[in-house]
Amino acid sequence: MQMTTKKLPPRTLSVAPMLDWTDRHYRHMARQITHHAWLYTEMVTTGALIHGNRERFLAFNECEHPVALQLGGSDAADLAQCAKIAEEYGYDEVNLNCGCPSERVQKGAFGACLMNEVGLVADGVKAMQDVVDIDVTVKHRIGVDQQEDYSVVRDFVGHLAEQASCKTFIVHARNAWLKGLSPKENREIPPLKYDYVYQLKRDFPDLEILINGGVTDNEQIAEHLKHVDGVMVGRAAYHQPLTMMAQWDALFYDDHHEIMSLENLIPVLHDYANMHIQANKGTLLRHMARHYLGLSHGMNGARQWRRMLSDASLLGQNNADLLQQAGMAVGVLQA
Ligand SMILES: Cc1cc2nc3c(=O)[nH]c(=O)nc-3n(C[C@H](O)[C@H](O)[C@H](O)COP(=O)(O)O)c2cc1C
Repeated sequence: MQMTTKKLPPRTLSVAPMLDWTDRHYRHMARQITHHAWLYTEMVTTGALIHGNRERFLAFNECEHPVALQLGGSDAADLAQCAKIAEEYGYDEVNLNCGCPSERVQKGAFGACLMNEVGLVADGVKAMQDVVDIDVTVKHRIGVDQQEDYSVVRDFVGHLAEQASCKTFIVHARNAWLKGLSPKENREIPPLKYDYVYQLKRDFPDLEILINGGVTDNEQIAEHLKHVDGVMVGRAAYHQPLTMMAQWDALFYDDHHEIMSLENLIPVLHDYANMHIQANKGTLLRHMARHYLGLSHGMNGARQWRRMLSDASLLGQNNADLLQQAGMAVGVLQA
């Protein structure tokens, strides 16, 4: 069990929950770059937590705070049980996924289809709040399928605020189309409507409204922050972590520590990878290195870095020194 008594920063910036991407190794790396942005886990279903290997789904590095667990589920009792487990594990927030459009998730009756079941969501949020002291938040879309009207998301948020005292909403500013689009297409094709999210903040000034979707640079973040309380970044924070996040603490949290560089990051990642490999619990270099590919984004030698860190035979040696060798190959570290 890990508990924290640290004062939590505001959710001005956060890194989105991303299945297969924002695992504990990615989050460890992200935390070296930004000390304050909130980090979200991959979605974990209530079924997996209740019946599966908890340690596998919940383990995180102490440095990751503030860290939020995202749950997928719709049964109030199961959600409450999982929220309690998350709190006991030391998570700082539990977030309910009401935005994922995948068919698999729809069969389990959760994710984006919950936008049509606001009563169920309210029951779930209330049940979680009843058993934990950490924040219970909701991540959702602005509508599903052909629901184009602003009133859809307004009523969803209004109902949860009123009936479940939910205070924090993370709004992916596009619809989810439940039929006919893959999850990937559902992050690209339905148009972004940032004005709907801005309007939410105007209509519910006392709620904490975070915007998500399509953000790729700090100028966009600064612009959004004129209208809402926070910005959640997904793909850009994954594909170009240093370019995207290195300035965040200085620009948005008024913390002017030394900006993280690849040169300074490599030794930290090397020690971290070494520790996991030595622990001999099945974590392999490739489980960690796959998240490091984007670190060279925009640099000379970016391709060489990516090539070395995705080379099956080099990774197969399972030796963390590969990170140093890649750093030398691209001229970031001295030979
Ligand atoms: C690979 C991948 C996996 C994702 N998994 C989840 C997830 O588990 N839960 C969730 O709420 N959203 C998930 N998303 C959606 C993101 O959280 C985010 O809402 C979306 O990517 C839009 O933000 P962006 O344009 O900044 O990437 C995922 C996105 C990607 C790219």
